[in-house]
Parts: sequence; structure tokens; C-alpha cells
Amino acid sequence: MAATTIEGINFNLTEEHLAVKEAARDFAQNELLPTAIERDTHSKFPYEQVKKMGELGFMGMMVSPEYGGGGMDTISYVLAMEEISKVDASASVVMSVNNSLVCWGLEAYGSEEQKQKYLKPLASGEIIGAFCLSEPEAGSDATSQHTTAEDRGDYYLLNGTKNWITNGGTSSVCLVMAQTHPELKHKGINCFIVEKEREGFVVGKKEDKMGIRSSDTHSLMFTDVKVPKENRIGADGFGFKFAMSTLNGGRIGIAAQALGIAAGAYELAVKYSKERKAFGKSISEHQAIQFKLAEMATKIEAARLLVYKAARQKDEGKDYVESAAMAKLFASDVAMWATTEAVQIHGGYGYVKEFHVERLMRDAKITQIYEGTSEIQKLVIAREILK
Ligand code: CAA
Repeated sequence: MAATTIEGINFNLTEEHLAVKEAARDFAQNELLPTAIERDTHSKFPYEQVKKMGELGFMGMMVSPEYGGGGMDTISYVLAMEEISKVDASASVVMSVNNSLVCWGLEAYGSEEQKQKYLKPLASGEIIGAFCLSEPEAGSDATSQHTTAEDRGDYYLLNGTKNWITNGGTSSVCLVMAQTHPELKHKGINCFIVEKEREGFVVGKKEDKMGIRSSDTHSLMFTDVKVPKENRIGADGFGFKFAMSTLNGGRIGIAAQALGIAAGAYELAVKYSKERKAFGKSISEHQAIQFKLAEMATKIEAARLLVYKAARQKDEGKDYVESAAMAKLFASDVAMWATTEAVQIHGGYGYVKEFHVERLMRDAKITQIYEGTSEIQKLVIAREILK
């Protein structure tokens, strides 16, 4: 049993945790690595690999077995996220959104009917979900929802556009935030479960992105889409609270993704530095490279402690708003910095696709942006400190 303690928190990694980590590592190395560059180059969604992730139980890890999930804790989830993100952050964002934004939100706040109907196939990986909060004019300023959901008695009439939606094209079910009572501002927002086949639901263009290119990011358009009343999650006006609460956990997933990207780049840099010779010896024998590796290892370990701390606090039922934001803020900065250092260590080879580190560097950038930019994480942390 490996145990690390921070602020009285015992991480207690059990045999089961280590088995999950190993299974995720094997999957990433054997099933993701061989096709990662090709999928990135051609922006190809990892259909086969996501199907396999479902079979291995990675798409609904924390969902209770009663609803087809793995019944695991958040520590297991971040261990798996780290290993998969070391190799392919495109695959891990599909997993992260499905696990922590869609499945977790549905299990925590959905009705029994909604769980039976939607959570079961989502948790088993039979279908994929998407979380639709961002809009062309509502990114960081998420309370400013322009998508409307007009109450028509038996149903809501949904109109508006969502932007940068992960799993936008491949998802069957979307959780859509929309404004029902504009006079109540964020307290008038609702969240709806919207199936793709509903009339008036159109999937817009696929984004051509800098990184996580093999994930599927779209704008979504809703024109007079009829959504039954029973598809609203929680009480009238609960939608913004739903989004914020769900994102708190989502940020732990993205922090684990950032940690994985950094650790993946570091592992490649260590290996390369032992193989590459310059001035008559391995570059790992040069102090300039040793200092880089030492600093990378230290910052990655610090990020890992923050990620585990947030995960453990969530598992222990403690408040994790601040620790999730700190983990995401720090780990995403480490990811951007460590991947850049890994490219530097690889020199010219680092700048070409074959060595993977340039892809990890491009992938790292999004972790400072999605599920709340670094600036939003600082705002969340400051509000927690000062309240
Ligand atoms: N947890 C719980 N509740 C929270 C919260 C949090 N982290 N942050 C805010 N709230 C609550 C507040 O307590 C408040 O509730 P009350 O009215 O009951 O007091 C309510 O939300 C509104 O908050 P504020 O009054 O503080 O509103 P604000 O406009 O000043 O700030 C914000 C809100 C924190 C900036 C919020 O808009 C925010 O988090 N923005 C970032 C949005 C974001 O993370 N988007 C990610 C998109 S999803 C994505 O990226 C998925 C993907 O594809 C990978």
C-alpha cells in the first residue's frame, strides 16, 4: 500500500487503485499510442478506442453499479485519466466529459426515470454524452445564457446556439443549459436532457483545432426544439447551480488530464535524453538537461499531490471547490510548461510529429482554457479564500 499524506489526507492507494492505473496504462500504450499521430493529423475521432473504453469500464467509472457504472472512487478516475492522457488527450477528454460532466451530473441530480433511461447507456459507454454551457457570447461569463427555454406547459421550446461542445457530433444525449426566466438572471437557468434526434436540433461545423484534434468539437443549434418537461434536471431554475456543481468535479478530471499530458511528455523526455548523444555523451549526462528533468519531475509531483488532494476531498464528502480549482490551475500551467521543456530537450526531433511531444504541447494548451480558464480558476480560488 503506497500512502502519501498531505494536510491530514491519506491517499491510501490500494491494490485496486494500482490495478486500475495499470489497466489504463496498458490500454493507452496498446490501443491509443499506435494510431495517435494519424488520428491527430486527420482529426479522426477514436470510435473503436472509445468503444473499448466503454467495455473496460472507463466511461462511467464513478457511477454506481446499479446504473451500469464501475462504482469506483474519484482517485481511481484520476489515476485512469492520468495514464490515458499521457498518451492521448483527445481520447481522455471524451472520457472526462462523459464521466464527470454528464454521468456525474445525472447521477447526482437526475430523477430515477432519467437515470434509468439515460445514465445506464451513458455509464456503460453504449452512448456518449455532451455538456452544453458555452455559447458564442457566454464562455467565462456563463450566467449570460442567450439560449432560451420557453415554458409551454407540457414541454419547453428551446432556441439558441452552443459553441465549442466536446463530443458535439458523436454524442447521442446533450445536457443543455438555457434561460427560462431572464428576469431572474442565473436563477432562471435550467438544464435539459436533449436527445440528438429531436426536430430542430442541428449539429454545426466541426472545429479545426490546435490540439486535441482527434476529439470532436462542434457548435450546436436549436430551433424550436420541443423538450418534454420530464427532461428538465432538478427544480425550475436549478440549471446554473447544476452546471457549477458539475464543473467543480469536471475540473478535477481536467486537472488529471493536464497532469497526464505533463507526465507523458516528461517520460518521453527522460527516455530520449538517455538515448541521444551530444558532445560525446548522452544528453542526460549534461547538467543543462538534468536540471530541466529535475524541475519537471518536481512540478509534476506537486501537481499530482494537488490532483489527488482534490479527488480525495471529493471522495470524503468534503468541500472541494477550491482544491479542484487549484489543481486545475496548477496542473494546466505545469502541462504547458513541461511539454514545452520536453520539446526543447528533443531539439529538432521535438518539433516534428513522429516524436509525440509537439502533439502533447499543442494538447496542453486547452487545459488552461476549457472547464473554466486559468483566470476563472483564480477567481474561484480568491472567492473561496475571501468568503
Ligand atoms: N461551485 C458552486 N456554485 C458556484 C460556483 C462553484 N464553483 N461558482 C459560482 N457558483 C454559484 C454562486 O454561489 C452563485 O450562486 P447564488 O446566486 O446562489 O449565490 C451563482 O453560482 C452565480 O455566481 P456569481 O454570482 O459568483 O456569478 P459570476 O457571474 O460573478 O461568476 C462564474 C460566475 C464563477 C464566473 C461562472 O460563470 C464560471 O464558472 N464561469 C466559467 C464557466 C466554465 O467553466 N465553462 C466551461 C464550459 S464546459 C467545458 O469546457 C466542457 C468541455 O467541453 C471540456
